[in-house]
Amino acid sequence: LTGGIGAILEGCTIHSTKTPKSFVTPLIVPDTAGPLALYKPDSENFKIEAGTAKLKIVNEKESLLNVYKIKHQEKTLINPTILVQKGQELRVTLENGLSEDTIIHWHGLMVEDKMDGHPAYAIKPGERYEYKFKVKNRGGTYWYHPHPENLTAKQAYKGLAGILLVEDDEELQLRQSLELELGKNDIPLVIQDKRFDQAGNILYNPDDMEKIMGFHGNKVLVNLTLNPLLKVAKKFYRFRILNGSNARIYCLSLHSEQRRDFIPIYLIGTDGGLLDKPYKINKFFISPGERADILVDFTSFNTGEELFFKSLAFDPMDNEDAENMDNMGMQHDSLKAGEEINILKIVIHRETEKTFKIPQNLSSLKPINIKDSLTRKFRLSFTGKQWQINGQTFNISQFPVIVKKHSKEIWEIANDKKSMPHPMHLHGFMFQVLQRLNSPKQVQDLAIDQSGRTAMDLGWKDTVLIWPGETVRIAIDFTHDFTGDQVYLFHCHNLEHEDLGMMLNLKVKE
Ligand code: C2O
Ligand code: CU
Repeated sequence: LTGGIGAILEGCTIHSTKTPKSFVTPLIVPDTAGPLALYKPDSENFKIEAGTAKLKIVNEKESLLNVYKIKHQEKTLINPTILVQKGQELRVTLENGLSEDTIIHWHGLMVEDKMDGHPAYAIKPGERYEYKFKVKNRGGTYWYHPHPENLTAKQAYKGLAGILLVEDDEELQLRQSLELELGKNDIPLVIQDKRFDQAGNILYNPDDMEKIMGFHGNKVLVNLTLNPLLKVAKKFYRFRILNGSNARIYCLSLHSEQRRDFIPIYLIGTDGGLLDKPYKINKFFISPGERADILVDFTSFNTGEELFFKSLAFDPMDNEDAENMDNMGMQHDSLKAGEEINILKIVIHRETEKTFKIPQNLSSLKPINIKDSLTRKFRLSFTGKQWQINGQTFNISQFPVIVKKHSKEIWEIANDKKSMPHPMHLHGFMFQVLQRLNSPKQVQDLAIDQSGRTAMDLGWKDTVLIWPGETVRIAIDFTHDFTGDQVYLFHCHNLEHEDLGMMLNLKVKE
């Protein structure tokens, strides 16, 4: 698609070929208890507590985290992977066991505003919030995380985040045809960079510069595992990747150390579920909040062969602006934004008898009919102190964007030059990316069509990355069947930016 698969790639590149020996900790995968445990709610109400837990993450030290907990059959599930069906009614009680306000946002779910985790509904320590909603989304990989005003970044960084998987017929059919089994060869990968102190606890202490640039960690975890290793059989694996980092963007690829080459990745889904067909790529950008659903075929590898999910080096700013890059959120020992990082080691260790074929078609996606649609413009800018959307910052009681229920709009989101990338997220609705204009070269290199879109822009999206100098056009259908005015949010998912106010209320008028 974008040139051959080879060690020399434009845009984001591999600089070193060093093979770190330290990746020996078995990757945590969804199991029956512990971190990311699979939880299938039945029709009854279930309770989820935002509280604390101690986990061994760095060496043998116990790290104190903020986590979501569900008690189930005498076991404690931590940041559970919640598995629901399309159409299912969910009743969830959130219990705030933290020492400050919180609320859960179901990222990507199309729910009534009272169920959406708008900061207006944040609850105090010790209080409860009752959620009741129907899952209307397509099958796909969604997630949940805190959303209280000014506290989202800190709470998410300290560990509050979980995956929510929605199943529908197409999704089940795919799993069946490729014999994909959740937790076995269908594995969520939650990628998060964090900073730890000497005692092994998570440190969240952004200075003024880091509040502006976003807080970057000194270690990258996958599923709360540091330096993770996954042993795979020679078959198809599906990875549902969530960038759950506060601010770090990854340029993900799968690289074979022995072959010194990239391994093809089949992108089969994005934020809102399956794409029309698989897209063969060798790398992709994933920004905070976004999901990438991928298939990898390990059948032709040799036993013992070692692969690495890596984030390749890239330029997080404008090319001419390299100096700022050195400042990008950097306390002494941190990993720089755009730095090459080894993320997950994979070792081929077992044969399998069966072979499968990559499916030709996955789903059918209808483009939103944008004929005669209104175009609304947004400009992302910086005042020297604050990030703004159309010259405004968040005010909980103001409604700068008002749209009509059932209308379809085109949003043209323009990011200033000499700025930084912003992953823009919309609550309440999924959208479609129409076009990328004036993209930096490293993004142009990944374009799959005339409109400048990359594979990660396809399908139904709730978060889209907008690079410096770029304009991205998206189509949104504001149709829903809730009654009364609904208030959602449009904001940057760099969580430090969100907390600084790079967020606007969006009112959908009845
Ligand atoms: Cu995942 Cu308003 O955020
Ligand atoms: Cu931003």
